[in-house]
Amino acid sequence: MSRPLRVGLAGLGTVGAAVAKLLRDRRGALADRCGRPIEIAAVSARDRRKDRGVALDGVEWVDDAAALADRDIDVAVEAIGGDGGAALALARRALDRGVDVVTANKALIARHGTELARRAEAAGAGLAFEAAVAGGIPVVKALREGLAAARVRRVYGILNGTCNYVLTDMRETGRSFESALAEAQALGYAETDPAFDVDGVDAAHKLAILASLAFGTRVDFDSAHVEGIRGVAPEDIAYAEELGYRIKLLGIAERREDGLAQRVHPCMVPRAAPIAAVEGVLNAVVCDAGEAGSTVYEGPGAGAGPTAAAVAADIVDAARGRRAPAFSVPVAALEAAPAAPLARRRGAWYVRLSVADRPGVIADIAARLRDRSVSIEAFVQRARGAAPVPVVMTTHETGEASMRAALADIAALDAVAAPPRSIRIETL
Ligand code: NAP
Ligand code: HSE
Repeated sequence: MSRPLRVGLAGLGTVGAAVAKLLRDRRGALADRCGRPIEIAAVSARDRRKDRGVALDGVEWVDDAAALADRDIDVAVEAIGGDGGAALALARRALDRGVDVVTANKALIARHGTELARRAEAAGAGLAFEAAVAGGIPVVKALREGLAAARVRRVYGILNGTCNYVLTDMRETGRSFESALAEAQALGYAETDPAFDVDGVDAAHKLAILASLAFGTRVDFDSAHVEGIRGVAPEDIAYAEELGYRIKLLGIAERREDGLAQRVHPCMVPRAAPIAAVEGVLNAVVCDAGEAGSTVYEGPGAGAGPTAAAVAADIVDAARGRRAPAFSVPVAALEAAPAAPLARRRGAWYVRLSVADRPGVIADIAARLRDRSVSIEAFVQRARGAAPVPVVMTTHETGEASMRAALADIAALDAVAAPPRSIRIETL
């Protein structure tokens, strides 16, 4: 058998420790598939004394993660996290030395992907990040290889396992946002700082990477419109069910005539739509392409096992000597597409208001909507009384800018007791 592939592993948390374990447990099978053994030559993390649940005897410990690149290794696996610091330092140093980099880090690729791909090309090294998008789903490979000849028009999906877990749990058990999030953290799904998950940033990182792979454009995270799920209240989840919808945090990227549109926000999707049935930590990615039609990829989007399997698949590619351009095409061929503004979206809305229950209030609200050319589809007021009462409505398709202006007008009415809560309806 050929010379072993020597791996330097940085980060021994949820993902890194699971990668170390998987490479140990599947050593024989992986050697058969690669035609050579894969061995961990050196590791780095912050705390040398922490029990990682995996034997690392005989493996060199390196305090400075970037210095792993100077060891005798073929692949640097980055499982630290963060879009700078040690993760970026290791990736740059390894690539510049011609060492392949495998990373699970979407923040790093969304922010520095183009630069790192350029360094990889210059040094003849590989840059792979299957685990960075949708955990265990091999969607990076699907876009880069399986759909290499397809003209992708739109790519969208549920891209954050933590948010999908929280929304599912709130709906199924009636538990609070905080308690559902704590459980997602305990299960190892959330980012070190879970604000990245619940504020939509993690999904936007992944969307920016998917868009680049799908459209051959430069990774453009900064142009994405990003909203998270903190504003989704239990009442919204209940009303969604009643109205025949389910709430999902979606990332949607579209190639339009006016440029590349990227947005992440909570959506109400029809309960009968396939994506509504993607629950818990599962992710799903849908690619709408010309000749290839619509293809769907579904599976676990976070967690130690699925993510480690995706990292290991990239290591296997490195062991086999397989290398593709990081973003489907060489960096020089990546297009700098203009960002298409969200203000041009057209679609329907769900709106929940808290209003004083007195004559004329509904007429005032309807007038504000009429003045902005927003047409009401359905309207529900249940409670009656002295305190503010909830009013819920859905609209017909309308322009984003009109709807936002109408919501601002409604918020300014005396009878409206709290800022309106609104969620876009997507029929996809
Ligand atoms: P984690 O459990 O917090 O682990 C981070 C690891 O990095 C820890 O072992 C930590 O060391 C180490 N570390 C931190 N700073 C370091 C430094 N300066 N030098 C060397 N090591 C350092 O995070 P994780 O969940 O495994 O996530 C790691 C990466 O995978 C992130 O980019 C994340 O976005 C990505 N990812 C995670 C999942 C998931 O489901 N968790 C899925 C897909 C992708 P100590 O242990 O000593 O503190
Ligand atoms: N925190 C991320 C999620 C991990 O919940 O989807 C997988 O990228």
